Amino acid sequence: MQRWAQKFLVVGGSSLKGTVKVNGSKNASLPILAGTLLCAGKVTINNVPKLQDIKNMKDVLIYLGAQVKDEGRKLVVDCINVQSLEISEELMRRMRASNLVLGPLLARFGNVKISYPGGCNIGSRPMNLHLKGLKAMGAEIKEKYGYITARVPSRLKGAEIHLDVPSVGATENLMMAATLAEGVTLIRNAAKEPEIVDLQKFLNAMGAQIKGAGSDTLEIKGVSRLEPAEHTVIPDRIEAGTYMVAAAITKGDVTVTNVISSHLDPIIAKLKEAGVKVTVNKNSVRVEGADRLKAVDIKTMPYPGFPTDMQPQMMALLTVADGTSVITETIFENRFKHVPELRRMGADIHLEGNTAIVRGVPSLSGAFVEVSDLRAGAALVLAAMVAEDGTVINNIEHIDRGYERMEKKYNALGARIIRIST
Ligand code: EPZ
Repeated sequence: MQRWAQKFLVVGGSSLKGTVKVNGSKNASLPILAGTLLCAGKVTINNVPKLQDIKNMKDVLIYLGAQVKDEGRKLVVDCINVQSLEISEELMRRMRASNLVLGPLLARFGNVKISYPGGCNIGSRPMNLHLKGLKAMGAEIKEKYGYITARVPSRLKGAEIHLDVPSVGATENLMMAATLAEGVTLIRNAAKEPEIVDLQKFLNAMGAQIKGAGSDTLEIKGVSRLEPAEHTVIPDRIEAGTYMVAAAITKGDVTVTNVISSHLDPIIAKLKEAGVKVTVNKNSVRVEGADRLKAVDIKTMPYPGFPTDMQPQMMALLTVADGTSVITETIFENRFKHVPELRRMGADIHLEGNTAIVRGVPSLSGAFVEVSDLRAGAALVLAAMVAEDGTVINNIEHIDRGYERMEKKYNALGARIIRIST
């Protein structure tokens, strides 16, 4: 199918006002959908966002033989007839998170063959920690011709695994693999993101025996099989954070509802430090933009540190703050692709390795800019909302991977974004 190149035309200058509801989390939904492969039965997942990345994961499940009933934000996935087929490069390259089927398929079938998901625009995205952990659990791993083949003679065995870095994907893959292993698996230096906690809740609802999600050590007692269950995905903390920055940068007044405010703590802290007024309630946060924003320093860290997925959006905000901000990206080696695009809009940003020096300017101006990855795209929309004149944003299919009809939800708050198919 010919995919039309889609663009946004954004006219800046309006302050966002009103209330907006956050959808289910993309980064919780993806591992949970992969986890349905562990169960030979029907599993219901509620509050799934309608995103391109979710469709990509659904396509992988269907290719493997799953039936997926799509009832809007409710997916009923039946993996009773799934086989561990070789997953092609075409399918795997669409989305890195497709690699989350590795652990479930190996645990359930004892063999799996997937093409490398390939890097993406923000870094090389290796899988060494995923594979090291599976080897510790008894898997034989071969990497050749761009494919990963894994097999285990009988059943995965519980093991003690120490992750060099608290990788979200490696924690998720190994946690899922361990649910059906023989014996107990310990994962140390595990990722502590809320999406890991949500995955534990889902797997335990299917009968897994996992403890410790949210801490740096997970304990998984293997069981012989998992049973069908129902689960509701947590709200998307990055979608919520993007709305919060949008309210701040446009000096607006926006209440973001359906959030778990504790997941937003690092974002709330930084916005308050920048002089933004944030009122926190249990399931909503209200953000009122300040007349003058203060420069702040940011260092992205694993949760509960400042999330790398909010780094581009905060950089957009800080391009028009008073003073100089220092932004250090410690998670990915190439997550500054939005910098040259922001410069085209008049931002004053200087890169030194994994650090960006952002000198605030009085205002940004419209320009033709290109989206390189999902969160960089969101950052460019935020910058365009305060730029004088109009901005044309190209390659917005990256944005559609993680934001549901972004223009619809932001225009309802007063933004002026037009989607153009060329
Ligand atoms: C998840 O990616 C998220 N994606 C990313 O969100 C997020 O940016 C990232 O975690 C960090 O929070 C999903 O959840 C689907 P990692 P993941 O493994 O799991 C290194 C978005 O915008 N590493 O925690 O791929 C790796 O190179 C996306 O929604 C190894 O060295 O991230 C990186 O430097 C972008 N070896 C660091 O760990 C490995 O085997 C963190 O990566 C695995 C990872």
